Amino acid sequence: MITTREALPTGLQLTALDAAFAEHPHDRLDRLRAEDPVHRDLRLRQFFPTRFDDVKAVVFNRSLSADPRNAPPDSFHRRAVLGNTPVEDYEPTMLFLDDPDHKRIRGLVTRAFNQQSVDAIRPRVRAVAEELLDALRGRESFDLIAEFAAPFPIIVIAEMLGVDPGDLDRFKQWSDTGAQLFNPARTPEQSAALADAQQRLFDYFTRAADARRRDRRDDLISALVAAEETGDRLTTREIALTCKLLLVAGNLTTTDLIGNGVLALLRHPDQLALLRARPELVPNAVEEMLRYDPPVSQTSRIAREPLTLGETRVEAGEVITASLLAAGRDPAKHTCPHRFDVERADTSHVAFGGGGHYCVGAPLARAEAQIAIPLLLERFPGLRLDPDRAIEHKRVPMFNGLEALWVRTG
Ligand code: HEM
Repeated sequence: MITTREALPTGLQLTALDAAFAEHPHDRLDRLRAEDPVHRDLRLRQFFPTRFDDVKAVVFNRSLSADPRNAPPDSFHRRAVLGNTPVEDYEPTMLFLDDPDHKRIRGLVTRAFNQQSVDAIRPRVRAVAEELLDALRGRESFDLIAEFAAPFPIIVIAEMLGVDPGDLDRFKQWSDTGAQLFNPARTPEQSAALADAQQRLFDYFTRAADARRRDRRDDLISALVAAEETGDRLTTREIALTCKLLLVAGNLTTTDLIGNGVLALLRHPDQLALLRARPELVPNAVEEMLRYDPPVSQTSRIAREPLTLGETRVEAGEVITASLLAAGRDPAKHTCPHRFDVERADTSHVAFGGGGHYCVGAPLARAEAQIAIPLLLERFPGLRLDPDRAIEHKRVPMFNGLEALWVRTG
């Protein structure tokens, strides 16, 4: 008898634009990792590695380019990042710059934004989480994303940057619109709203940076103004672009870490009970959340010269989109990779990337999750999934997170 095997998944079937992938990505990723570990995706014009070691080799390889302008014009990566922006008008933030420009900007930014600046703000991070949880007191059910995980990092970064409290609502609105970035399927209305919000944010930060040049305060914008390395400083334009990047790169992702992490706990009551009983496990549990269900599903690089990845040859000029999502569940790296285990001894992950572009916000993201999740569990001892509401997944290719997570408090 002849059995026909289903074709390997490819193209949009490997992105959250596909509903089945958004809900159950690992069925497809496991198959690809086993049968075609450095998949050549002709539809999206990219190579798609899924093994932990190959993904790590890509993100740590400093000879690859992170600049989407170097990608073929018909590649999904370039279309997703540049959208309709003509290449000559595109102004990359550090995320999409190569050295020496990348090294220069990153060096200056990390003088102002680093582990020390995050440690200094920890008490305020706790206070912001507590205020949001206070507002939920007495509620029988709520959407954890809309009412806690989404506003929380926005308020924290706004305070860090030094956004005036009176501007917070406008600021939140502009920041929310950023969710449409990296969505190649956005409607013309969404594109217009996005461009408008991005411009307003840029103008806001330009004015703020100019104001801080005249009158320094104790905030991150002032620290960016003051940052200096061998006589070099950031221009006002570079500061405004960086502030916008901190919002885009930091808010959605931290929301997703909290949302995905709480979902994993509520789906694994034994692990939830363990964490409640042993709060010293929280830092390890957060690393396990990052391995098990990372907020950034993939990241792309462009080969400048031919290279071999696993057994596959990649020609110069081709895009490599490394699956951070697949890497965390590689059975060659982790035993029982699909088990969520807050006590796991080896939680190695690439959720924050690696190498030259390693996430600048990792200390802040970790602090936020380590503070917010235990506080939420403490406030709601009976927290559980709302059985009457479906879990909604985001449908944006680069991100892996929840649109809504309805919970019950008793
Ligand atoms: C759980 C939350 C977060 C995750 C999973 C995450 C993930 C990542 C990843 C994977 C990269 C590297 C991308 C690449 O190699 O192409 C990255 C870079 C970056 N992240 Fe995060 N991030 C998070 C939170 C934050 C926060 C809170 C901030 C700042 C407020 C931030 C700011 C940045 C910046 C500025 C870069 C660019 C670094 C560079 O290009 O040198 N991230 N992040």
